[in-house]
Amino acid sequence: MKLNEALKDPIFKILAEAGAELGIETYVIGGFVRDYLLKRGIPQDIDIVAVGSGIELAKKVASKLPGNPQVSIFKNFGTAMLKYEGSELEFVGARKESYDRNSRKPTVEDGTLADDQKRRDFTINALAISLNTNSYAELLDPFDGLADLESKTIRTPLAPGVTYSDDPLRMMRAIRFATQLNFEIELKSLQAITEYKERIKIISKERIVDELHKILASARPSKGFALLHKTELLPYILPELIALQGIEEKEGQRHKDNFWHTLEVVDNISETTDDLWLRWAALLHDIGKAPTKKWHKKIGWTFHAHEFIGSKMVYTLFKRLRMPLNDKMKYVQKMVLMSSRPQILSEEFVTDSAVRRLVHDAGEHVDDLMTLCEADITTKNSRKQKKYKNNFKIVRQKIEEVEERDHVRNFQPPVSGEEIMETFGIKPSREIGIIKDAIKEAILEGEIPNEYEAARAYMFSKAKALGLTKV
Ligand code: CTP
Repeated sequence: MKLNEALKDPIFKILAEAGAELGIETYVIGGFVRDYLLKRGIPQDIDIVAVGSGIELAKKVASKLPGNPQVSIFKNFGTAMLKYEGSELEFVGARKESYDRNSRKPTVEDGTLADDQKRRDFTINALAISLNTNSYAELLDPFDGLADLESKTIRTPLAPGVTYSDDPLRMMRAIRFATQLNFEIELKSLQAITEYKERIKIISKERIVDELHKILASARPSKGFALLHKTELLPYILPELIALQGIEEKEGQRHKDNFWHTLEVVDNISETTDDLWLRWAALLHDIGKAPTKKWHKKIGWTFHAHEFIGSKMVYTLFKRLRMPLNDKMKYVQKMVLMSSRPQILSEEFVTDSAVRRLVHDAGEHVDDLMTLCEADITTKNSRKQKKYKNNFKIVRQKIEEVEERDHVRNFQPPVSGEEIMETFGIKPSREIGIIKDAIKEAILEGEIPNEYEAARAYMFSKAKALGLTKV
């Protein structure tokens, strides 16, 4: 099969020329070929395999490109990379490799294209297109990767145990590709992942998190998390989620299975947002439920303060996975901490002051919080489903009305600390905080509007009660 269509970019002619001049067999391989055949568009990143030195080939290619782009060389791995017109070209010499069992460091020996292909992770990633003169554009598919693309199967070229022990990250990659592409992992591959699950421990947290991000960014992330659960990899990665699994029953009272519920919430939210961190918030919104679960004779199951405990757990979890402890983490914490607020609010008569407090506390993230709460509705009872959705609709309307009138979303105190100090001739002190808080409370409670004049008048009445007089 000839795939000239895939090689339309002039870069391929240059690659072919460079290979011919050096007498090095040259092929495009991996994700580029896979994604082209899957019609996911022409991919930006191109992996090139050279039967010979990938580094020499890269240098030759660079010398033929306008501007002579810089070649980054990774000597230890025998690979090279160059950037050209928005594409990243990765060069590797074909290798027969075997991995050291306790690390991911390969011991490399030169090999043929076929050697290289069989050492790759999946048949669908082992597809190669020739850039050589006598077979230009020919598809080389020794492991029936094309058939696997058609039947949507993730399969390893070698016995799964060999492929996964060569590089245990591939266990995560199998699940990630299955989720991203909506493919199924071959049964014996699934069994091998379960068998070798413990070897995920030698993989760096950063690489695991990269795969988790890709799973979470997929159209239906639950598929990936269900597979991580099924293969028993999940406890090594996110034990907090596994702890949510199971239903307990006491005196006829059951609570829901919060693991499967969580996965539904993640799928729901993925229909409305691509924001990775909001998806993380959905994944973690209930993690505090495992450590806070209690049974009470009179009221049944409770998860008291699970939102607070959960938000603390977000920090520990991010730290353990070496994820950045930055504003993204704080955002996820905030979403988890506030995750029940709109619900509590919607169950009561929705007062303006409760809405103002919600908007004030959630600030710029109030819409995201509502999106999370709407995704949290997983009841199968259509009457209840309708009722909850409608309640949130009312809350959203109220938020808009209140925000239009009171502008508390990004609350700025209408009277500053300096103004208080000047008016009453006082130095920085506790009283200033008391007055400022009192003004804020009065605005949130709706006692006064969020306006300067009203706030200033309120400042005088509060100051009087504190025994302060104007200077
Ligand atoms: N590969 C492998 N084992 C790994 C990682 C990568 O065999 N642990 C091979 C596969 O042939 C893969 C190629 O290297 O296709 C390139 O890897 P990478 O860029 O990580 O993945 P892509 O397949 O390009 O897919 P994506 O860009 O979606 O990650």
